[in-house]
Amino acid sequence: MENKQAIRRIGVLTSGGDAPGMNAAVRAVVRAGIYYGLEVYGIKNGYTGLLLGEMEPMSLRSVSDILSHGGTILHTSRSREFMTPEGREKAAAIARVYKLDAIIVIGGDGSFQGAKLLSELGIPVVGIPATIDNDIGCTEYTIGFDTALNTVKDAIDKIKDTTYSHERCSIIEVMGRRAGYIALHAAIANGAEICLIPEKKMDVDADVIQPILAGRTRGKTHFIIVVAEGACSCSELAEQIKRTIGIAPAVSILGYIQRGGSPTVRDRVIASMMSVHAVEALMRGERNRIIAYKGERVVSLDIDEALAQTKEIDPHTLLTSEILSL
Ligand code: F6P
Repeated sequence: MENKQAIRRIGVLTSGGDAPGMNAAVRAVVRAGIYYGLEVYGIKNGYTGLLLGEMEPMSLRSVSDILSHGGTILHTSRSREFMTPEGREKAAAIARVYKLDAIIVIGGDGSFQGAKLLSELGIPVVGIPATIDNDIGCTEYTIGFDTALNTVKDAIDKIKDTTYSHERCSIIEVMGRRAGYIALHAAIANGAEICLIPEKKMDVDADVIQPILAGRTRGKTHFIIVVAEGACSCSELAEQIKRTIGIAPAVSILGYIQRGGSPTVRDRVIASMMSVHAVEALMRGERNRIIAYKGERVVSLDIDEALAQTKEIDPHTLLTSEILSL
């Protein structure tokens, strides 16, 4: 492939909450970069490391045997300093000192907003979407979502065994920040009776109490309620259920277990494809892009257009979860 803009050296960093598959992405950026004749610098700890000039050249072998590992070998952070205009000026100056012709940012929405502001200071960027939340508007898929969902699926299967045996009601809180993708997909995959997500305004009586009473009438003896962390407080919900119908639900908050573990095939493959695409976009002379997954294809989008896009929970997916909970 012709190197249209004579790009020589790129940096790569991981930023924000880690996601399984970030290592697969780092590996693919390094290998594709070297394949196309570039020097690739690994920047430590996200934007924090960029501000400190914590970076070193990566080799083909420096990314051996990381494909199957969760977390990120580059480490990650949420940098307060980078959020300030002075911080970003400093980061851009450091990128120039290290002669980085572009920076590939592997992370979520917040990291991309930062990347866009950095690009406005003359540092070309490319974003690769990685967050377990799957909450980035411009892409149908974000790296880490499938692995997190599989972890949630395993955990809820286990909680369901004991919920069934004790004829109980279990409330399970999953991650997702302000989005309900993990909760909704887990509710379908685990056959939950009730799913609460921030995108749908909740009425405790209509959405929780009445379905439990109706389920009991239909012969249900146990109930799984999946709650997205942004939807409501699980302990308050448990209190309300106890007060209203006398059942004391058991609350499980799955927490950070959802962010770890060996990435699934889907996450390894999509991370690899997106990352090779990111390097190739730079080689073609594209600048300030976000790599996205649309209609089973990897595409490169203009960063301003990409970040202006929003996505909504599909109402039919929500209905599917309700139909199957009968
Ligand atoms: O964005 C990924 C995520 O795990 C969210 O689901 C969660 O709300 C948040 O990160 C937790 O962030 P922190 O690592 O700062 O506790």
